[in-house]
Amino acid sequence: ARSGPPASPIAEQARTAPDLAALRAGVAACTACGLCATRTQTVFADGSGSARVLFVGEAPGAEEDRTGVPFVGRAGQLLTDIIVKGMRLERADVAIVNVLKCRPPENRDPTPEEKALCTPWLERQIELFDPKVIVALGRHAANFMLGTDGLAMGRLRGRVHRHAGRTIVPTFHPAYLLRSPGEKQACWQDIKLALAELAKGE
Ligand code: URA
Ligand code: SF4
Repeated sequence: ARSGPPASPIAEQARTAPDLAALRAGVAACTACGLCATRTQTVFADGSGSARVLFVGEAPGAEEDRTGVPFVGRAGQLLTDIIVKGMRLERADVAIVNVLKCRPPENRDPTPEEKALCTPWLERQIELFDPKVIVALGRHAANFMLGTDGLAMGRLRGRVHRHAGRTIVPTFHPAYLLRSPGEKQACWQDIKLALAELAKGE
């Protein structure tokens, strides 16, 4: 038995999903928060995760809501470049997910309640993908993955964190890098930390 805040309606379903296909089906039917009313479809994940690295973004945008695939818009193209040109991995071999599975209207920030309701899905995704390294993209994902609250990216990035049995490398969100290309160098430093973790014990 777990103590703490009351479980969300989907927590038990998420915790007991036997595999990613079952989890995906659960997400597709989820109506736990109000975002179910405005989404076109849920956005579950992309990639097999065989490269043992999981990228966690914030929430689907317009293109993702339309296609059902995370990180396919302009920020997604930059993430793909980081994976393919920077890390020399195939996009199909990493795993890519978001904290929220449904698009917030007008791309507003997710509310604390929406995040609390949706994160059982993410927690089970992490267990099932079981990555060696998690790259947290932007401050929403980074604070969630590290169990912190509202810390700025400058306080979080630039080093490898161990939290709740996981290895986490926070870095800038690609949408932020599109607005602030001067930070791409710092992002690349973070990605090199992630690559070094991936290479450990190989
Ligand atoms: N930004 C995100 O955080 N996730 C996406 O899937 C697309 C843009
Ligand atoms: Fe369910 Fe998450 Fe979508 Fe809300 S955002 S309806 S909790 S899948």
